[in-house]
Amino acid sequence: MSNYHIKHLEEYFQVYRKSVREPENFWEEVAEEHFLWRKKWDKVLSWDFSKPEVTWFEGAKLNITENCLDRHLATRGDKTAILFEPNNPDEPAEYITYRDLYERVNQFANVLKDKGVTKGDRVCIYVPMIPELAIALLACARIGAIHSVVFAGFSSKALSTRINDCDCKVVITADGSYRGAKTIDLKGIVDEALEDCPDVETVLVAKRIHSDINMKEGRDEWLQPLLDKASKEGKAEVMDAEDPLFILYTSGSTGKPKGMVHTTAGYMVYTAYTFKNVFQYREHDVYWCTADIGWITGHSYIVYGPLANGATTVMFEGVPSYPDFGRFWEIVQKHKVNQFYTAPTAIRALAKQGAELVEKYDLSSLKVLGSVGEPINEEAWHWYNDVVGKNKSPIVDTWWQTETGGIMITPIPFVTPTKPTFATLPFIGIQPALMDESGTELKGNQVEGRLCIKYPWPSMARTIWGNHERYRDTYFSAYENKYFTGDGALRDEVGYYRITGRVDDVIIVSGHNLGTAPIEDAINEHQAVAESAIVGFPHDVKGSALYGYVTLKDFGEARNQDNLRKEINQLISDRIGPIAKLDKIQFTEGLPKTRSGKIMRRILRKIAENNTSDLGDISTLLNPEVVQSIIDNKL
Ligand code: WT7
Repeated sequence: MSNYHIKHLEEYFQVYRKSVREPENFWEEVAEEHFLWRKKWDKVLSWDFSKPEVTWFEGAKLNITENCLDRHLATRGDKTAILFEPNNPDEPAEYITYRDLYERVNQFANVLKDKGVTKGDRVCIYVPMIPELAIALLACARIGAIHSVVFAGFSSKALSTRINDCDCKVVITADGSYRGAKTIDLKGIVDEALEDCPDVETVLVAKRIHSDINMKEGRDEWLQPLLDKASKEGKAEVMDAEDPLFILYTSGSTGKPKGMVHTTAGYMVYTAYTFKNVFQYREHDVYWCTADIGWITGHSYIVYGPLANGATTVMFEGVPSYPDFGRFWEIVQKHKVNQFYTAPTAIRALAKQGAELVEKYDLSSLKVLGSVGEPINEEAWHWYNDVVGKNKSPIVDTWWQTETGGIMITPIPFVTPTKPTFATLPFIGIQPALMDESGTELKGNQVEGRLCIKYPWPSMARTIWGNHERYRDTYFSAYENKYFTGDGALRDEVGYYRITGRVDDVIIVSGHNLGTAPIEDAINEHQAVAESAIVGFPHDVKGSALYGYVTLKDFGEARNQDNLRKEINQLISDRIGPIAKLDKIQFTEGLPKTRSGKIMRRILRKIAENNTSDLGDISTLLNPEVVQSIIDNKL
């Protein structure tokens, strides 16, 4: 046995050591015992980070959908694969079994084939969180087409850029989407985008909101009638291990979005293995990740990782605030969710609403709580742990990236003792390194530096679509022979990692290196504070000084601004030291955020620096309207 399922701390250390000493043997055993291959590999790993070139399981043949669907039919045909919970709580949930899913994926795959899609073609998927979204990904994978999912909250400009960058001929979308009490005219956005995409030949439209939309003759077709006519059987295309599975765009600090390319075999093995261990998934569990499939979290931990393990994975169409802020907990109660995986921004928003909305519901099914996307601050961690988890469900603070494909640094629940704000230990097979400014690796514990990974792992992105040079420059040129993550981290006295934030968020004040996260943690401890973000601005004595943007739970409290400022600085002083005190504190009604909930510090930094002429494209923000009000009230 290859220790597919880790259950004790000693076992973790033992397996981890093996994965570092003999990585090829280790991954070969995992791959051999837990997946379905048409042909086994000739070589487990080849790599050269200077090029960079990485291949896993070279020579192997497989189809990931046979691993996610076909092989479960005999034993799990009637088990729910996807549990769809609609936006409207009065609409019934849909239980899609492994057999249903297998048939619906084949039908969709046959429709795509009929439209001329073949192996290697790129297909853009711009679909809200309805079952057709997951089915579309799998249908592409079934026939070897490369899916490029664009989050269905992005603007038409963001969509057309992504369609053109990888040259998609087919777009899959829906008439519209539900988002709480609102509907969004998706097809209208697609029509606008396609004015700039002359190469798109086919648009397949799922019906969701039954709106009256424009269908362009010869290009647009309703999906359902085509599916109804298609066969429920279909052979899976036999893929090479290193054939691309999908492209997913992530924004860089500069320039156009980067189309990260993930390949087939390594991605499958790593997402499946991490899913099993990080969530300690057992056969009859119900697992729910609240992310959108438009992000990597949804690709790896709503679709591929769970389905490769034969799990029941919940797909939620709505938002945490509709019909009220108890919705997440209502769903946990209704479906007896065992593993719940969400983002700190959601936790903070819910915590702001008070504990009563949580306590109304029976959350006793919960076993594991997950966090992802940004550092989880201390206050949110405790609220999640105490109020949601009742102190009995370990929190897995999972650090990873679009580029890494799977979870990289994380506790294993019931195995790794957790510590608030620490992602704790590297996952099996992951070899992190902390680097100083001069490019030397910092050995030993109690050090802080830039986080790199010094050995390949199976699910790493292989390139940026159409721009391998940018891939090398962005990730493999800062430190020789290492993948550079762009994040800073510290390693504590027992070897636990804490992610301190993007290194571009590090601010040097009077020669002191200050991470934004611990300062924000201190501020957020204040009972009046909902959220905060710190940036640097030029200061003639200190080099940089700190500017804090703070949103209050009750904006009316901003009346006592000066008292509040003193109290906040006192807290920072107490927690970190007077050096970290803020020079300016601006109370705001909101903070600019990306669609995935990350605070856009880049914009806040420019405002603090009085450099608002060039804020860049703010149209893809979740809440572009707050930007002007922050500028108007700048201190
Ligand atoms: C960046 C990657 C893959 C998850 C979704 C985001 C930050 C992510 C954590 C965490 C601290 C985190 C990092 C990373 N991040 N998870 N648990 N603790 N920071 O994917 O959009 O590619 O963003 O998110 O800064 O580099 P992404």
